Amino acid sequence: MCKQYHFRPAEDGFGFDAWDVDRLIELARGLPVEAVPLHAIGEIDTGYWFEGSAESPTVRKVVEHSMLILQADLSDPIILGSDGRVSTTTTGHHGPVAHLEIRRAIPVDAAAVRRVIERAIRASAARTYPPGAVDTWASGGTLEAVERMIEETYAVVATFDEIVAGWANLDGDEVDQLYVDPDAAGRGLARRLYESVEQLARLDGLPELRAIASLRAEPVFRRFGFREAAREERIFGGHIFRVVRMTKRLDQSSKREAGSDNSSGSPSEAHT
Ligand SMILES: CC(C)(COP(=O)(O)OP(=O)(O)OC[C@H]1O[C@@H](n2cnc3c(N)ncnc32)[C@H](O)[C@@H]1OP(=O)(O)O)[C@@H](O)C(=O)NCCC(=O)NCCS
Repeated sequence: MCKQYHFRPAEDGFGFDAWDVDRLIELARGLPVEAVPLHAIGEIDTGYWFEGSAESPTVRKVVEHSMLILQADLSDPIILGSDGRVSTTTTGHHGPVAHLEIRRAIPVDAAAVRRVIERAIRASAARTYPPGAVDTWASGGTLEAVERMIEETYAVVATFDEIVAGWANLDGDEVDQLYVDPDAAGRGLARRLYESVEQLARLDGLPELRAIASLRAEPVFRRFGFREAAREERIFGGHIFRVVRMTKRLDQSSKREAGSDNSSGSPSEAHT
């Protein structure tokens, strides 16, 4: 079984507090079990998996959720937080219980997205590029560039309880942006974001996707089925960045026009 976490926005307003679900279950083991009416559970009337999301509740997705429900061990109690919201169920096969949404980015997300980009670069790319380069990359983008990408490209955000934790976009046939907040990293958010972008590309009939991956993101894109096309050195803010040009064939033959260049303020758009 995958390790599971329960996320809540951190009290200081930055990032997330994450509970290890196994530990939550362990700590709750001795607590008295109470009967709680269904209507008293915080989320009962909340759109949970799909509302506001770029995903559609396809038959397959509904069936997958139904299978999880069928696997629930009803002899185990549900753990509720003091606010009456579900902290976790003990179904054994449940996905993350926090409100994770993948939805289309809107202009008001821009500041949060900009913060995620900067935090992601500083925390996650620090081992792959020298400190000066990381600093230049992290601080090199602007709020206006993010706003432009939200308006001009297919951009999606991942939110936990409505707090932006990651984002990605599709600019023409290029997956240009893919950033996940370090507090939410390693839990499949980049994959969820990427899959949303790929889904749109397939619907659009794109035959191939491109990405210019940082050395940090290269193995991640490989996991998504991308292959290396070329290695390059790009100059950005006076620093040399080694990046990997990657492509992925989509099993479709129809085409659409490739989109315009972007100005995301990242090494992927700097000149060789
Ligand atoms: C790279 C980044 C987007 C990954 O986000 P994430 O949410 O932690 O990634 P996920 O947990 O969804 O992992 C996606 C897949 O890549 C794999 N993966 C992640 N890091 C890996 C690594 N260093 N080596 C090998 N595989 C790795 C995961 O196992 C997972 O595989 P699976 O879905 O087949 O199980 C994030 O760390 C980030 O924003 N980094 C900084 C900025 C950056 O370089 N962005 C890309 C710009 S091109």
